[in-house]
Parts: sequence; structure tokens; C-alpha cells
Amino acid sequence: MKLFIDTANLDEIKEAASMGILDGVTTNPTLLSREKMPFKQLLAEICKVVSGPVSAEVVALDAEGMVKEGEDLATIADNITVKIPITLEGLKAIKTLSDKGIMTNATLCFTSMQALLVAKAGATFVSPFVGRLDDISHYGMDLIQQIVTIYENYGFETEVLVASIRNPLHVVDSALIGADVATVPFKVINNLIKHPQTDLGLKSFLKDWEKVNKG
Ligand code: G3P
Repeated sequence: MKLFIDTANLDEIKEAASMGILDGVTTNPTLLSREKMPFKQLLAEICKVVSGPVSAEVVALDAEGMVKEGEDLATIADNITVKIPITLEGLKAIKTLSDKGIMTNATLCFTSMQALLVAKAGATFVSPFVGRLDDISHYGMDLIQQIVTIYENYGFETEVLVASIRNPLHVVDSALIGADVATVPFKVINNLIKHPQTDLGLKSFLKDWEKVNKG
């Protein structure tokens, strides 16, 4: 399973990249709003740190405007992936941009039928928001299972990019179901690595190392 980081913070991206685990980055207007650097300059810097797909979202609401913004974003770097919300206009923009060979990430996905339609339109990725479904008492991971099954049934190449991840179990379940990608906040990446028994075991080894005859 590929791991992307869900942030626009350059320091977090560099830290995760240094661990050798990072396959890409996802941003959105909210994540970009937390950073001070001009967003196109920031996206260009991110694309220098990570060679994998870097998602940047359009804000136009009409297909023509989305395509125009998407083509502009795509000039920032070859690994820019244009994030398009799954609306009627978004579906048209996904089709147009995909036909132009521009990577697309269909975002704000909340149903398996949205995922089916964007796959038919040629989306590179689909981003089902599991955390926001959990937040309203729906099992977000059930949606991932449905989409993975439907894509396998019909051989769709669109990659399932699990988003809105809140905790390590979302990552565990994404991997067990067979999602292609999980985009993970920095805090959750750190929680994936940490375990108290690892820390205790290391402490115990180092304590006993003091007693080793070092010649
Ligand atoms: O990539 C989408 C993700 O950033 C949304 O996460 O926590 O705002 O639901 P969240």
C-alpha cells in the first residue's frame, strides 16, 4: 500500500520523506490555508521534496473553470495531481483533464456510486473521506470495501486513496481491505511507528547492555 502524507506543511513532509516511507502528498484549501508561503511556491517546493503524486485542489465550481485551474496547477511540476470535487461539473472536468493526460484526484467522495462514476470518467485517484463518515456514525471503512470490490469487479484502474484518516486503525483497515493508497496526517504517521512495548524493550536492552563485558 502506498502512503501519502495529508499536509501542506513542508517540515512535516521533509520529516516523513526522511523516513523513506513517503509515496506522495495530498493538500486541500484548508491545509494550504494553514501555511504562510504563497501556495504555488509552496506546491513547487513540495514537489521538489517528493517525487510521487502531489495533490492540489481547484476551487472553481464550473467545469471550464476547473479545467483552466487544473491546467495551470499542472504547470507547477510534473507530479502535480489535480484534485477535483465530485460534482456534476467536476465529473466533466475529470474527463477533460484525464483525456489531456493530467493526473486527477476525485475528492470529497462519500458514496460508491460517486467512485464508480469518477472511475468511468478516468480519474487517476478517488478520495473517499472515511473520517468524516465516522464523524456522523457511518462506518467509513465500509465505503472503502464497497469501492475496492466494485473496482475489482470491473477492472477499473482508478486508485482508491483513503482520505480523512483519523487514527492508525484506518490505515490498518485500508491495508487489510486492499486500498491502493492511504493519505495520513503527520501525527497519525508517528502513531503508526510508536509502540510502548518497543520503547520498554529498548530501555531494558540498554539497561542490560551496561552489564555486558565489553572487553
Ligand atoms: O485529503 C482530505 C483530507 O485532508 C480531509 O481530512 O480531517 O479534513 O476530514 P479531514
